[in-house]
Amino acid sequence: MSKDSLTITDNRTGKTYDVPIENGTIPAIALRKIKKDETDFGLMTYDPAFMNTAACKSSITYIDGDRGILDYRGYPIEVLAEEASFLEVSYLLIYGDLPNARELELWEHEIKMHTYVHENLKGFMEGFRYDAHPMSMLVSTVSAMSSFYPEAKDIEDGENRNKQIVRLLAKMPTIAGWSYRHRRGLPYVYPDNDLSYCGNFLSMIRKFSEPKFQPDPILERALDVLFILHADHEQNCSTTAVRGVGSSKADPYTAVSAAAGALSGPLHGGANEAVLVMLREIGDKSRVPEFIKKVKTGEGRLMGFGHRVYKSYDPRAKAIKKLSEQVFEVTGKNPLLEIALELERIALEDEYFVQRRLYPNVDFYSGLIYESMQFPTDMFTVLFAIPRAAGWLAQWLELVNDPEQKISRPRQVYVGPARREYVPIQKR
Ligand code: SDX
Repeated sequence: MSKDSLTITDNRTGKTYDVPIENGTIPAIALRKIKKDETDFGLMTYDPAFMNTAACKSSITYIDGDRGILDYRGYPIEVLAEEASFLEVSYLLIYGDLPNARELELWEHEIKMHTYVHENLKGFMEGFRYDAHPMSMLVSTVSAMSSFYPEAKDIEDGENRNKQIVRLLAKMPTIAGWSYRHRRGLPYVYPDNDLSYCGNFLSMIRKFSEPKFQPDPILERALDVLFILHADHEQNCSTTAVRGVGSSKADPYTAVSAAAGALSGPLHGGANEAVLVMLREIGDKSRVPEFIKKVKTGEGRLMGFGHRVYKSYDPRAKAIKKLSEQVFEVTGKNPLLEIALELERIALEDEYFVQRRLYPNVDFYSGLIYESMQFPTDMFTVLFAIPRAAGWLAQWLELVNDPEQKISRPRQVYVGPARREYVPIQKR
C-alpha cells in the first residue's frame, strides 16, 4: 500500500478501502467503490459552490491565498506589472512562455490587424436600447460574434483556434469602447492601429473631433498595468463558466460570452462597480464607523473586501493602491479615496473582519482609478472583462487540449419527492 494514500473504513460494513493521494487530492471517482451493498451506487462528494474541489489541472495561474502570492506561468504578478505590457502577458498566459522580441512584434501586429468588427456587428450593437448597460452589450455582442465566424465551431483545429483567440482579444476593446459610446449617445470611434492596445481603447472612448487622439502616457500605462493585474485568476466563477461551456465543445465566442455573464455579478467582477456605489452611499469619512457597524450586523457587505482564496491582502489590491498614486498625480485625487482608506484602516483592525480573514481584494481600489480616469461606474466591469478575456481564452485552450477533460456534468443529491401518482386536475 503506497504511503501516499488514505485508508477509509466504511463503518456501515466494516470494509476498508485504499484511496491514492495525488497532487494533494483524492480522485473523487475512487469513492464510488465504497458501497453499502451491491445495489448501492457508491459514494460521491458533496461540495456546493466547489469550496474544496479541484475541477482541473492547470499550469496557467498559481495563487497562494495565505501568503498573498499570484503568479502567471511562474512569473510574479508584481514583476509582470512592473516590466511587461498587457499584450506580452496575454501571450504568456495563452501560449505558456514570454514572447521573444520577434514573437511579440508579430503578436502585436496580429492583434492590431483584427481590431475592426464587421459592420453588421456595429448594426447589431446599434439595435440596443439607447441606455443599455455596457456589460449587457458586451456579453451579447461577444456571443453574436459566433454567428460571424461559424468556422470557430471547429475547435479541434489548432490554427483555427488561434485565429479566433486573436480576433476576440483584438475586438474586445472595440466592442467595449462602442458600448460606452452607445450609452452616451456618441458616434462610435473606429480603431486607430497606430496606437497601443490601451491607447487605441482610450481613443475609442475619448476621441471627439480632433483628427487623432493622443492618450496621456501615464494613464495609458496605468490602464495597461490594470489589464495585466486583471488578466487571469485561476478557477474563479467566470473561468468555471468558460470551462463549463467550452467542455461541450461550443465555440470560444459562446464560451467567453458565458464567462462575461458570470463576471457581471456583484459578487464577482461587478464588485468594482458596487464599491463605488458603496463609497458614495457612505458619503463621508465620518460615517464609516456607522457603515461598518451595519455590515457587522449582516446589513450588506463591505464590497471589495473578502475572497474565496485570499485570506490575506490580495497582491493585486496592493499593486492597484500603489498605481492609484501615479494616476491621481495626473487626474487629481479621487475624493472617495479617503473614505476607502478609512474603511480599510478600520476593517483591518476590527475583529469581525480579522476573524473572517477579510482583506481588500482586486476590486476595492480599481474603481477609484477608473472613476478618476473619467470612466462611469457602468463601465467598470467592462474594464475587467477586456483583460480577463486573455485568461478565459488561455483557460479555454488548456481545457480543449487536456486529455483528462470531457463534458462537465456534475452529479447531485436528490432531495425531491419520491415517485408518485399523477392526480387529474379535477381531483386536485
Ligand atoms: C473577484 O474568485 C476569484 O478569483 C474572483 C476574482 C478574480 O480575479 O476572478 O478575484 C475577482 O470576484 C473578487 C471578489 C469581488 N467580490 C466582492 O468584493 C464582494 C464582497 N465579497 C464577498 O461577497 C465575498 O467575500 C466573496 C464572494 C468574495 C467570497 O465569498 P465566500 O468565499 O463564499 O465567503 P462567504 O460569503 O462564505 O463569507 C464568509 C464569511 C461570512 O460570514 P459568516 O456567515 O461566517 O458570519 O465572511 C463574511 C460572510 O458574511 N463575508 C463578508 C464579506 N465577505 C465575506 N462580510 C462582510 N463583507 C464582505 N465583503
